[in-house]
Parts: sequence; C-alpha cells; structure tokens
Amino acid sequence: MAKDKTLYSCTECGGTSPKWLGKCPHCNAWNTLIETVAEAAAAPAKNRFASLAKTAEVTTLADIEASDVQRTPTGHDELDRVLGGGIVEGGVILIGGDPGIGKSTLLLQALDSLQRSGQKTLYVTGEESGAQVALRSRRLGLDGSQVSVLAEIQLEKILATLEHTRPAIAVIDSIQTVYSEQLTSAPGSVAQVRECAAHLTRAAKASGTAIVLVGHVTKEGALAGPRVLEHMVDTVLYFEGDTHSSFRLIRAIKNRFGAVNEIGVFAMTERGLKGVSNPSAIFLSQHSEPVPGSCVMVTLEGTRPMLVEIQALVDTGGPSPRRLSVGLDRDRLAMLLAVLHRHAGVACMDQDVFVNAVGGVRISEPAADLAVMLAITSSLRGKALPKGFIAFGEVGLAGEVRPAPRGQERLKEAAKLGFSVAVVPKANAPKKNDKSFEGLTIHPVERIEDAMNLVRSL
Ligand code: TYD
Ligand code: MG
Repeated sequence: MAKDKTLYSCTECGGTSPKWLGKCPHCNAWNTLIETVAEAAAAPAKNRFASLAKTAEVTTLADIEASDVQRTPTGHDELDRVLGGGIVEGGVILIGGDPGIGKSTLLLQALDSLQRSGQKTLYVTGEESGAQVALRSRRLGLDGSQVSVLAEIQLEKILATLEHTRPAIAVIDSIQTVYSEQLTSAPGSVAQVRECAAHLTRAAKASGTAIVLVGHVTKEGALAGPRVLEHMVDTVLYFEGDTHSSFRLIRAIKNRFGAVNEIGVFAMTERGLKGVSNPSAIFLSQHSEPVPGSCVMVTLEGTRPMLVEIQALVDTGGPSPRRLSVGLDRDRLAMLLAVLHRHAGVACMDQDVFVNAVGGVRISEPAADLAVMLAITSSLRGKALPKGFIAFGEVGLAGEVRPAPRGQERLKEAAKLGFSVAVVPKANAPKKNDKSFEGLTIHPVERIEDAMNLVRSL
C-alpha cells in the first residue's frame, strides 16, 4: 500500500492523523496513535464489508432460535473442560502464554484428535516450517496424521485458503507472525495484530470455521501482547505454570460459551501434554517433616478444589525491606502484612518478606489470605505448623476472617487427602454432627488474632 494512504488513529479518542505523532492532536494523550487502514483507501471501489451484508439479518429476539450451541469435543478432557465442553462452530479462541510453555504442542495434539474424529482441520504455522511441525508430530506419536499444514504468514493468503478449504477448525500459530498487506507496520505490532485478528474473526463468523489464535505474552512488550485481542474473541485461555516444572495450567479468562476461571491441568511428558484428571495434590512440595514458613491451603477456582502449598520466607532486611510474591498479588501481601501487625501484633517492618505459591500456580482468590499470614508468621518465628495442617479464608482490613465460597467442598477435599487439622472461617465450619470430614479436626476462627493464638497452642 502506498504510504500516503496510511492513517493513524488514536486508541483513546478515535481521532485520526495522516502521520504518526507521539501525542494525539485531538485529545493530547501520549503514545496512543496506531496505524489503521483508511477505509476509502483500502477498498475504493466497494465497502470492504459489503460481502458480509447478506449475513446480517435483522430479527427480533423471539424469532431467533435459541438452540444450545453445538460443541465439538477436542478429545482432551482437560482442554474441553476450560472450553466449556468443546469447540463451538464459528467460535474464536485466543490461547496466550509464555513462549515454550506448550501452546503449539497442545493445539497440534487437539487438531490431530479432531481430524481423527472426522473433522476437517488446518494448522497455519508462521513460526515454524512445515518440516518442523511434522517433526513435532512424530515426536508426539501422531504418525500418519492427516492434519493439513499451511506455512504462511500473509493474512490475505491465509484468508483465501480458509475460504477455499473450509476447515471446521483452524489454528493460527501465532497471530503475532501474521501480517496484512494493507498495513505498513511490522508483523507483531499492535496495528497488525488487531487488524489480522479482526479479519480472521470476521471470517470465522461468516464461514462457521472455528479459529484458534495463538498469542505470545511478552514481558518486554516489544510485540503486541494478546491482551489487545481479548475483547474481539469469544474465549480467552491462558497458560500458567513455570516452564521448569512439568505441570501446566490453562485458565479460561473469558468465555462466551462457558464458565470462566475454570482450570485445565496438564503434565508435559515425552509425548506431549497429558491431562491430569485428579490434580488436587500436585501443588504440594514433598516435605517428610513440616518445615517453618509453609502452609497448605485449598483453593477452589473453577469447579475443582486443589491443595496448594504457600511458602513464605521472612528474613532480616535492609533499610527498605522487600516484599516479593510469586503467584500471589503483591499489593495484597502488603495489605496482609499491615493487618498482621495491627491486629495480631506480628511485626515484619524491618524484614524482607517473600511468598510463593508452589508449582507456578497463580492464586487470585482472597481465600489464600489466612494461609499466607500463617506461613509468614511461621517463618518469622521459625516454628513449623503441625503435620497435616491446612487453612483458608479471606482476611479483611479490620482483622476479621471472612468465609470462602464453597468451604465445605474444600474441607472435604482436604479430608480426602488425609489432612488432619484445619483452621477455617467460622461460617465455613460444618455442623457438629456432620460426619463427612472424618479424621479432620476443624477449628473455626472469627478473627486473625484468634487464628494466631490457636496455631500457637496446637
Ligand atoms: P511448544 O509447544 O513449542 O511451546 P509454545 O508453542 O508455547 O512456544 O513447547 C515447547 C516445549 O515443550 C519445549 O521446551 C519442549 C517441550 N516438549 C516436551 O517436553 N515434550 C514434547 O513431546 C514436546 C513436543 C515438547
Ligand atoms: Mg509455538
């Protein structure tokens, strides 16, 4: 495209400018101008959306048949779980995650089982050559795989192939490598990623092909992260877990066809990713004897309870002590330290405090509060919590311990795995005559100071 047809529009106010400027001339916001396709310039003869006009009928809600969406299971239970049962026709799924975490591996495995179940599939690779993909498929034990592969990064050619071959499911690996001729900016820039994803989304809706977009999350921000796409797609899945451990988690952040916050758990093996159907104990480290600074909690994100070990290390700090957390919110850690000081008299002002959720799992629910505080206190005092101990519960600024959602399910899981002592919010404690927590002594607490006193006496 000729340079003079390029247009830059502001992501804040929508104003346009014929050339790139650091500051938007309309709303004065900095760094908000990104390259866009000028409508008239891109398709002077016809409106470029004209082809879609016939697909947009206006009807009343009552006239639309609200049939339940048809889902095609991928054959991988843990992936289907986060998708809400399977892939939906015409649905667009974004899978994000750090490089090397297993996105390509999982999608190749999923495409292969879909192809074997009679679905037409297409794997568009922009990062690796066809030979590399074939090599990976052999390694995964997918010999004789009938998945079609297209090594291409130009959007227009990909769209033409989709139109021509009409697969049921297509994977674009990755969206950051795809570029459109309409734009002059480099592949991976915000403008390219947005434009390409918008075109692919439209193609999916018009043809019924389900499209999976792979996006890398980069820490440096040099490439446009998949975040800019979240609002365009139907489902957003993110890979979690550290690449050093073999476990990988997939979390649904957004799902127009299912529940959010559902988690799928996988283990990376010699032959690709394998679903872990009973993941409740994989995030515990194996201590033969209890050690100071460790407290196990039961987290319940999605539908399954999981036991996760929270570790804390409190050590003498310098003039400005550090507070660091891995897998937990750092602001919340600062808040909990203040509550601990004010309401339980545990002072860490001159100490460095590090907390970590074992196994690279990320815990966003406040039910981790009590376990974090107990782990910190345990590390500070150098005294381990009792063997078989678990705790969960949200702690408020006033020092109150608030109930966690579905506390009984969490306790049942802990009892099932042989834990023997639990400190939980009062509202989560079961009735006295409830027999389903056999072997688990449950101590209900109302305030953080009660919890601290109780733990000291155990
Ligand atoms: P990959 O799917 O290429 O990651 P992404 O597409 O998210 O960048 O995963 C690559 C990693 O997975 C690599 O470090 C090797 C490892 N791996 C296995 O451990 N087993 C396997 O069977 C395969 C194919 C990869
Ligand atoms: Mg890859």
